[in-house]
Amino acid sequence: MEIKKVGVVGCGLMGSGIAQLCAQAGYPVVVLEINEELLNKGLSAIDRSLSRSVDKGKLSPPDREATLARIAGTTNTKDFADCELVIEAAVENMDLKKKIFAELDKICPQEAILATNTSCLSIIEMARATARADRVLGLHFFSPAPVMALLEIVRTTATSDGTLATGKKFGQSLGKTVVIAQDSPGFIVNRLLIPFLLNAIRVLDSGLATKEDIDTAVKLGLNHPMGPLTLADLIGLDVIYSVASALYEEFGEPQYAPPPLVKKMVSDGRLGRKTGRGFYEYK
Ligand SMILES: NC(=O)c1ccc[n+]([C@@H]2O[C@H](COP(=O)([O-])OP(=O)(O)OC[C@H]3O[C@@H](n4cnc5c(N)ncnc54)[C@H](O)[C@@H]3O)[C@@H](O)[C@H]2O)c1
Repeated sequence: MEIKKVGVVGCGLMGSGIAQLCAQAGYPVVVLEINEELLNKGLSAIDRSLSRSVDKGKLSPPDREATLARIAGTTNTKDFADCELVIEAAVENMDLKKKIFAELDKICPQEAILATNTSCLSIIEMARATARADRVLGLHFFSPAPVMALLEIVRTTATSDGTLATGKKFGQSLGKTVVIAQDSPGFIVNRLLIPFLLNAIRVLDSGLATKEDIDTAVKLGLNHPMGPLTLADLIGLDVIYSVASALYEEFGEPQYAPPPLVKKMVSDGRLGRKTGRGFYEYK
């Protein structure tokens, strides 16, 4: 099946990035939020991101306008009625995601593919909330979605070969390198990344070094593009907490147990860049 129009659920950090990425690749996109205020916030983030690309000389002003023209915002799920693919990027909560999938199943064309950007929740559980489990898969983008080269595609025990093939072709049409993972918490990248980030937070909490020195040590000593605490702020402490909790629940290994400092920061609203405060302060 050919994907002609893409729907995106949620216009937060990931949803706005995914909508921008798809529109830049030439797809008409409709992006859903729960109210006008959040929708406008998400659309403004896309606008700013595209303007930054123009300032850096990576995008021409006419291409910026054409990309924006391909993105329509909505607060009505019915606007997904003509999408061949809908990518869900709402908050990481299984009950909410199941509700969204059940609703999408009623509204989207019968042959449409429903995808989730979940970081660690069971995709087969979402698929079973629909009557089209064979056409459900994970499309796991990385932040910032327009920039990061990787797309993890997650296949459940019910995902058909045709759905997987369409997912791969779609990912490649966005310019991504695609890897395939089974439907297991954390997939490939988070299964490896989360223990690393949690260890960096444990090292900070132990008083071994300052946050700046931990980040510098990893950047220069391991040749990472950014330090783990900066990365944690970028991903969001709430996301890290929920992914770590899900991994711990599934595997029961102490390496996945979120340290108390993460829980405290989440309770205190120190979620990272998105709230202006995490390990670092942001304007
Ligand atoms: N943050 C990351 O680096 C990252 C990376 C990969 C995947 N993910 C996953 O992507 C998803 C979104 O994460 P995020 O960081 O963008 O979160 P976010 O909080 O920035 O954005 C989520 C958005 O979804 C909206 N939303 C909630 N319910 C909705 C509904 N019923 N309909 C439409 N919109 C709804 C919220 O209003 C919010 O704006 C999560 O499943 C997360 O695990 C996150």
